[in-house]
Amino acid sequence: MGHDLEKVLVTEEQINARLTEMAAEIDADYAGRELLLVGVLKGAVMVMADLSRRLHHDVEMDWMAVSSYGSGTKSSGVVRILKDLDCDVTGRDVLIVEDIVDTGLTLSWLIANLRSRGAHSVEVATMLRKPGEARVPVEVAYVGFDIPGEFVVGYGLDYNQRYRTLPFVGTLAPHVYA
Ligand code: PRP
Repeated sequence: MGHDLEKVLVTEEQINARLTEMAAEIDADYAGRELLLVGVLKGAVMVMADLSRRLHHDVEMDWMAVSSYGSGTKSSGVVRILKDLDCDVTGRDVLIVEDIVDTGLTLSWLIANLRSRGAHSVEVATMLRKPGEARVPVEVAYVGFDIPGEFVVGYGLDYNQRYRTLPFVGTLAPHVYA
């Protein structure tokens, strides 16, 4: 799939080094507390697997799948749950694990939703963030990399469900969209 790519924005080495730093921060911040990692399918699969294995913490893992309602635009801010958590978050320290925060609308809804269920704390770890695209302010405790507003694929991120398994983050050549 090399000819589909335009450029690499974040290399595999950069991702791995940053994951190790993020895991150390999370271990320190949650010392002595039980942590529940909540991954948002499907994009977060890679960062969940790689970040969780770097933690020295004994963590629990659960998953949600969400989707924006109807309108056709990716993030309308109105979210529907396709797959809910298996566990009860009441009183738990929750860390949402995401591949990317773009407009912030999905995450903003998700944070409010988990807080309304009685979680003790809700924080966010994301590998990528596009500060230029933010439409709502979302506090993100752990960020891998801030990137420009370009469409990116790899490390969990897809275009029409492809390219998720690339070990780096890159942009696609224009002919792929044509
Ligand atoms: C992506 C990403 C976030 C959301 C971020 O998921 O994983 O959940 O979009 O966008 P926002 O900040 O603008 O709300 P997507 O809907 O592409 O689903 P996927 O993870 O299954 O690819």
